Amino acid sequence: MKVAVLGAAGGIGQALSLLLKTQLPAGSELSLYDVAPVVPGVAVDLSHIPTDVKVAGFGRDDLSGALTGADIVLIPAGMPRKPGMDRADLFNVNAGIIKVLAEGIVASCPKALVGVITNPVNGTVPIVAEVFKKAGTYDAARVFGVTTLDVIRSEAFVAELKGLDVATVKVPVIGGHSGTTILPLLSQVEGVTFSDDEVATLTPRIQNAGTEVVEAKAGGGSATLSMGAAAARFCMSLVKGLQGEDVVDYAYVEGKGEDALFFAQPVRLGVNGVSEILPYGELSAFELQAKEDMLATLKKDINEGVDFMAS
Ligand SMILES: NC(=O)c1ccc[n+]([C@@H]2O[C@H](COP(=O)([O-])OP(=O)(O)OC[C@H]3O[C@@H](n4cnc5c(N)ncnc54)[C@H](O)[C@@H]3O)[C@@H](O)[C@H]2O)c1
Repeated sequence: MKVAVLGAAGGIGQALSLLLKTQLPAGSELSLYDVAPVVPGVAVDLSHIPTDVKVAGFGRDDLSGALTGADIVLIPAGMPRKPGMDRADLFNVNAGIIKVLAEGIVASCPKALVGVITNPVNGTVPIVAEVFKKAGTYDAARVFGVTTLDVIRSEAFVAELKGLDVATVKVPVIGGHSGTTILPLLSQVEGVTFSDDEVATLTPRIQNAGTEVVEAKAGGGSATLSMGAAAARFCMSLVKGLQGEDVVDYAYVEGKGEDALFFAQPVRLGVNGVSEILPYGELSAFELQAKEDMLATLKKDINEGVDFMAS
């Protein structure tokens, strides 16, 4: 198993790479790429952890070295949010970075499973898809927006609110990955009921949890450690799928298009990425309304990515 992390020297990239060094199956390779000159040092640092995962660092001019032979590529490269900015403000800077990196993937490992972390995910994932389409190598089953942070935050907040063992809490989260497009399905949390007031408080807390971190870090960036943990968890789902295990997880993918072209939803993972788009089940009246209210925003975000590539 070869996993490449693009943007590996950043806050998310380093946390994610540390977790992958300790979690990937024995015999795996971890390939770290960044334009920051510290990336070979990050690789040397990680290589001193005694696990059977080989780590190599690749600088600015060696994207193809980092990507060749990769089974999975995770992309946390790009600018994080500062106080007062929302994810859309990042679009202009990060869209260009994502385009260049996606072109590198097309050239060096077009069959890899690609997990996009760079915000705004609602728009950066369509850019990756468009780059693949332009090259004639697009496979919707292999391109993912990583929305696992919304899932783990939901699990943490629900367990905290209800005094539950967090290891047993599962919360489906569908839609997109910014503000109101994030839709936690609290009505589907097994063994737990929420009052209308709890739903009305908890839903926006989950949707704005990123801002909670941005403000607490006071200009020092956005979520990095929890995002590293989320991306590692999602990567391990991809790894298990590639190894032939039956795995279901949530991700922002091009599905059947019933709600929007790209939508975070439950997917079954296999040796070729998504093997099946699964139904997300019945929504409460509150969730149905929230979904209807956010779809226009999500579609606009998706079009922004598609239009960026068309222009
Ligand atoms: N999907 C999510 O849930 C989620 C959560 C938090 C943050 N994010 C996003 O992840 C991204 C990274 O956040 P961070 O806090 O790690 O930022 P950071 O600034 O700490 O790290 C970003 C890294 O990307 C590198 N980089 C920039 N341009 C590059 C390029 N062309 N090729 C390779 N590397 C490049 C930088 O050198 C830096 O090391 C941001 O866009 C942020 O908004 C996503």
